[in-house]
Amino acid sequence: MIPIDLSGKVALVTGVGDNDSFAWYIGKALQAAGARVVLACHPRMTGIVEKLLETTSDPEDVAKRKLPDGSDFKPVKIYPCDVSYDTMADVKLEELPESTRRHYAKMTADYSIGGMVAAVAKDFGRIDALIHSVAFSREITKPLLDTSRKAYHEAMGISAYSLVSLTRAAAPHMPDGGSVVGLTYIGGERVIPYYGGGMSTAKAALQLDAKQLAWFVGEKNVRVNLISAGPYASRAARSIRPGEFEKSIEHAAAHSPLRRPIDPQEVANATLFLCSPLASAVTGHVLYVDCGYHAMGT
Ligand SMILES: NC(=O)c1ccc[n+]([C@@H]2O[C@H](COP(=O)([O-])OP(=O)(O)OC[C@H]3O[C@@H](n4cnc5c(N)ncnc54)[C@H](O)[C@@H]3O)[C@@H](O)[C@H]2O)c1
Repeated sequence: MIPIDLSGKVALVTGVGDNDSFAWYIGKALQAAGARVVLACHPRMTGIVEKLLETTSDPEDVAKRKLPDGSDFKPVKIYPCDVSYDTMADVKLEELPESTRRHYAKMTADYSIGGMVAAVAKDFGRIDALIHSVAFSREITKPLLDTSRKAYHEAMGISAYSLVSLTRAAAPHMPDGGSVVGLTYIGGERVIPYYGGGMSTAKAALQLDAKQLAWFVGEKNVRVNLISAGPYASRAARSIRPGEFEKSIEHAAAHSPLRRPIDPQEVANATLFLCSPLASAVTGHVLYVDCGYHAMGT
């Protein structure tokens, strides 16, 4: 048996919005392998995530916290972070929607990428794995042709540039090298008409950026890889267009070599592999965890 043992390692996981997020499953898998898991959640989501980690009222929520050995998912700390911002100097409260402005105005923590990563490094002394599981477009339901310039740029910034910014901030705190893993989708390579609002462009950028980053941090033994996941009904995916996304899950399942949809646990398992010494020579790679759908011509 070759065990994956990440004890002593610190994994910084972005993108947990609820207990359906890919990042939730990824965090659990990293903890099950022995890592100390630190979450960086959107500032509007930290309260929701904290509740999901504590609630005892809903048996489904309790079950979703369980690790294979029966213990609970227990991230060691949760930091707020809005990946739109590299430093707090980027925050323009007056440009935000009213409810977000009120929320952010009350916050005392530095919720920029730079501030959050510096706080993790100060509190834990190291970062060994960085998970990028963040994407957003406010015009996701609009086809590319109808997407505004503003929404397109915002989608690129949050969904693609944030990988550059997070890697730049985290790499200096990876003393023994490390592993950066991001999530992409086949819509970054092929035309998926409903994948709008600039998201397909953002994923295409993410895919080339991951390869470039692999080069730039490779000399520090930091590896950068992406997982191209098959469609799965997370909160973000459900917001695409009611009905459309469910159809795409059915289509992918029917047209994949394995003839079934993916399970989020399979994305978590592949992430764990990429964060482990078993993947020590794997970098600049896109690993398809999609039941083989990418191989098909239909
Ligand atoms: N669900 C799918 O079918 C699918 C398929 C392939 C790839 N992906 C990718 O997987 C990743 C995770 O998505 P998911 O499906 O788990 O959905 P999700 O909604 O659970 O996760 C997306 C996360 O992005 C966070 N986020 C959005 N804007 C942010 C910001 N400005 N700052 C910080 N966080 C922000 C949200 O809070 C949320 O937690 C995304 O990159 C997505 O594109 C999803």
